[in-house]
Amino acid sequence: MKIVVLTGAGISAESGLSTFRDNNGLWENHRIEDVATPEAFARNPDLVHKFYNLRRANLKNVKPNPAHFALAEAEKKFNNFLLVTQNVDNLHERAGSRNLIHMHGELLGKKCTFCNKISRIDGKLCKELVCEFCGKAGGLRPDIVWFGEMPYEMERIYKELLQCNLFVSIGTSGSVYPAAGFVEIAKQAGARTVELNLEPGEQKSHFQESIYGKASDIVHDFFGNL
Ligand code: OAD
Repeated sequence: MKIVVLTGAGISAESGLSTFRDNNGLWENHRIEDVATPEAFARNPDLVHKFYNLRRANLKNVKPNPAHFALAEAEKKFNNFLLVTQNVDNLHERAGSRNLIHMHGELLGKKCTFCNKISRIDGKLCKELVCEFCGKAGGLRPDIVWFGEMPYEMERIYKELLQCNLFVSIGTSGSVYPAAGFVEIAKQAGARTVELNLEPGEQKSHFQESIYGKASDIVHDFFGNL
């Protein structure tokens, strides 16, 4: 059986990380146009760096929860298992997931806008920092896919979706494309499609099955009974 799993902010909610669109979510307290677009970065790099520096620092205060661990276990149990996450936190890898695509980038990554090299960053990014590859200052940005940019590894993801037998979406509102459209692709390819979420997401009508509850309860149960 070939399985593709898509996760969103809801899987990390019980670890203490804010989602985007729930009450008190990140987009309630910050305007997307101010912190999550290339234009915002060009206009006010200090503000954008501050937003992501805080979120990066906060990774040290949170731990993977049972839902992250359940997916790492499932990867071991089913040998054809791809995890695609929209999340930029590192909780999946810390739980042990290995076959993982961060389609929206990673908080622990930095990218040079001059030479395009991507590398790791544990501390703070600021506009004065010099790129270790090209030696230029002022071009380093968080390795986050912002609105208007192309998510990573889309070719590989579509290929896997077209071949999968089971597609499971976990903890995502299904409101941001292209990830929101994955269920339709998997369905057209003949896969069983399942939504695991706290409440119905925007793509609810496209899923054959839906299970609602906290990720820490339902993810483990679902893969345990598979
Ligand atoms: P959202 O905040 O849009 O949705 C989170 C979903 O998780 C909601 O449907 C919640 O009901 C659900 N949820 C909350 N707590 C949960 C829990 N304990 N267990 C299970 N589900 C829970 O977040 P995403 O769908 O991930 O993109 O957002 C998608 C993209 O929009 C993000 O990757 C980000 C954002 O703008 C970029 O920054 C490019």
